[in-house]
Amino acid sequence: MQNLDQLEQTALADIAAAADNDALEAIRIRLLGKKGVLTGLMRSLGAMSPQERKTAGPALNGLKARLGEALAQAREALEARALEARLASETQDITLPARDEAAGRVHPVSQVIDEITEIFADMGFSVAEGPDIEEDFYNFTALNIPPEHPARQMHDTFYLPPDGDGERKVLRTHTSPVQIRTMLKHKPPIRIIAPGRTFRCDSDQTHTPMFHQVEGLWIDKSTHMGHLKGCLEAFAKAFFEIDHVKMRFRPSYFPFTEPSAEVDIGCSRTGGALRIGEGDDWLEILGCGMVNPRVLAHVGIDPEEYQGFAFGMGIDRIAMLKYGIPDLRAFFDSDLRWLRHYGFAALDVPTLGGGLSR
Ligand code: DAH
Repeated sequence: MQNLDQLEQTALADIAAAADNDALEAIRIRLLGKKGVLTGLMRSLGAMSPQERKTAGPALNGLKARLGEALAQAREALEARALEARLASETQDITLPARDEAAGRVHPVSQVIDEITEIFADMGFSVAEGPDIEEDFYNFTALNIPPEHPARQMHDTFYLPPDGDGERKVLRTHTSPVQIRTMLKHKPPIRIIAPGRTFRCDSDQTHTPMFHQVEGLWIDKSTHMGHLKGCLEAFAKAFFEIDHVKMRFRPSYFPFTEPSAEVDIGCSRTGGALRIGEGDDWLEILGCGMVNPRVLAHVGIDPEEYQGFAFGMGIDRIAMLKYGIPDLRAFFDSDLRWLRHYGFAALDVPTLGGGLSR
């Protein structure tokens, strides 16, 4: 039994000295593997006299159990050490602020769309969408602008080449076709806004071939012009973040609304600074009106039962006004210096409670 003790001492020392899992596994195989030292000794039990076996058997079994235990403990300790080392090398201080150079900026148009969405969501409007490449029917005909109608010329439309059926799709000239798509899909009551890209063949300091509009539509049984006015006033106050807004509704004409109006907000330009909401000057910000009964009939809504209002507003325009951006064309130049100057922090999501633009 003397050499069993020695075997145990050496084995335990080897196990304690093993530097990694591979070394430990080599020791296990040497001791307890199929051709291992201990396995060989166990096998020799068969050749012993019953008397010898009585003492050697329990001694070998005890040794095997102790070595197995020592191996398992050593493996656990090695794994814990490895995990600790990994955790120490992979630590990250999550209390550090995001790195400045990695922070992108939100484009003023995206910021203003988020602000508009937030304000109208609070009044119960949901967001609807339609395609940029639109069918003539939705962009014009269903909006009471039949072929040959003079309003078609006013839109400076981009036409796509005719498709197989000779039909020419258009780049939508306004967001109004989303009204039609929404009314064909949903029954009233309807309360949506539709922000998005629009296109017209036009370019100068205040016009770009691609620009943005937001459409509004509210259809119900007794929705009237007073609701339109209240909605737009509430919007203007919330958007420009001022308590009083001077507004005027000028009679106008759109084929899809009757009566129609254009809305101006009061402003002053004294001392070269533009102040929104008061003063003797006026700025046009949108077109609106009561949805023409012919449009309702076109989409299968009974104009005897339902009525409502619509409006269409230039997003880039009100972004320029609110944030004092002088040239519209710079919006779409993709100039990083411009974006750093006029852009917004990515994590500052505008909310009515937390502030729209702060
Ligand atoms: N679609 C019109 C335009 O682009 C704007 C407009 C005017 C939209 C009156 C409306 C509306 O919904 O009722 O010029």
